[in-house]
Amino acid sequence: MSYDLILKNGTILTSSDTYRADIAIEKGKVAAIGRNLPADGAETIEAREKYVFPGGLDVHTHLDMPFGGTTTADDFATGSLAAACGGTTSIIDFAIQSRGESLLKGLEAWHKKAQGKSIVDYAFHMIAVDLPEGRLKEMDQVVKEGSPSFKLFMAYPGVFMLDDATIFRAMLRTRENGGMICMHAENGGVIDVLVRKALAEGKSHPKYHALTRPMTAEAEATRRAIALAEMAEVPLYIVHLSAADALKEVRLARERGLPIYAETCPQYLYLSYEDYERPGFEGAKFVMSPPLRPKGNEKHLWEGLRQNWLQVVSTDHCSFCFHHPKDGKPGKELGKKDFSKIPNGAPGIETRMPLLWDAVARGELTPNRFVELTSTAPAKLFGLYPRKGAIAPGADADLVVLDPRKNRTLSAKTHHMNVDYNPYEGKTVRGAIEEVWVRGRRVVRAGKPVANPPHGNFLKRDPRSN
Ligand code: URP
Ligand code: ZN
Ligand code: ZN
Repeated sequence: MSYDLILKNGTILTSSDTYRADIAIEKGKVAAIGRNLPADGAETIEAREKYVFPGGLDVHTHLDMPFGGTTTADDFATGSLAAACGGTTSIIDFAIQSRGESLLKGLEAWHKKAQGKSIVDYAFHMIAVDLPEGRLKEMDQVVKEGSPSFKLFMAYPGVFMLDDATIFRAMLRTRENGGMICMHAENGGVIDVLVRKALAEGKSHPKYHALTRPMTAEAEATRRAIALAEMAEVPLYIVHLSAADALKEVRLARERGLPIYAETCPQYLYLSYEDYERPGFEGAKFVMSPPLRPKGNEKHLWEGLRQNWLQVVSTDHCSFCFHHPKDGKPGKELGKKDFSKIPNGAPGIETRMPLLWDAVARGELTPNRFVELTSTAPAKLFGLYPRKGAIAPGADADLVVLDPRKNRTLSAKTHHMNVDYNPYEGKTVRGAIEEVWVRGRRVVRAGKPVANPPHGNFLKRDPRSN
């Protein structure tokens, strides 16, 4: 047996095990795992005293997305490169339906954006904004074409928001076609009233973005989304859960045995409302929805990650520049005079795995839980397991080598995201991602991206089997 590559003597981490072994790779797949595998001319990488774990899956990214009067700063080329540098080897991005047009047309547009550009493997969720009765059957086709998940919005009236009846109809349809509903749960109507009131009172500072999106607006929508899913008898996945009160709704539903799942994102674990109160317009860097919550909230989220009330950590990577718009794409400055015009979103595709590993180093999470949250659970929930999210014979050779003895400092000066600020500027995290492979092809060497032509593939995902 001759292999293409052998990773020798690494400590392998999966969602359930920690053990020392060699990993042999052949034709982009894990071919064998064992002690003293014969090199026989294969390239050999020594990984002694380092960890080897499955490449991360970031199931919530917005690349090349028109939004908030502009377009996100990262496209599939820059975003996927940054993902790879941060140990993420697959992403699920959001394709968007245009109002009055078919879901499939939106999906096709996102295929064009990604094809030939992405360094990591990619898949799509479908954002449905316009779902009259006659369009529901298009959802079945989207599922069949390998994108069996739909993001629906209870917020952003006039842009993305759907009413409860439309949401409920879409849920009933996904019960039949094996899709998954991913919900942006915030009460958009209430928020709209609060935003208008704040603006009428002359309140324009970025902090009012958070003050007009209370935790109760997220908790109420989360409760309502769960109730709708329960009546439709479908699983539900809550995206970018930020607030302890919303988490309580998810926990209570799960304790009742309902198939309710949720993700949170590093920004809600590491940043807080207080960041909006930075001097001048600085708070705009953190304008995202849901907003950052007051200090102390994050403790509940960490507990939720340990207790499996939260199953996934994704990024909601949605980057806009702060000072210097790139490629003619305006950024946060659009809201200088009016917080409601600040494009919503923040960069994070490159920093998720490093920040989460730092939590391992601090004892906040076990190494196996880290793998579960960043790779295995998202692969299982979104129809990619065991091709992704596993180190096992036959799985794609998406692998990360991390040196736990080194540190890295997060900074816009060194990151690869196409954006002029880093929300974690100057933060030093323990552990350094050194080597990354996507289907056996090296994309990162000694912490630096490898200049190869992009070879990320579209991942056709399986629908739900239950
Ligand atoms: O602020 C955010 N989250 N921007 C991206 C769009 C969304 O709601 O996920
Ligand atoms: Zn959202
Ligand atoms: Zn998002």
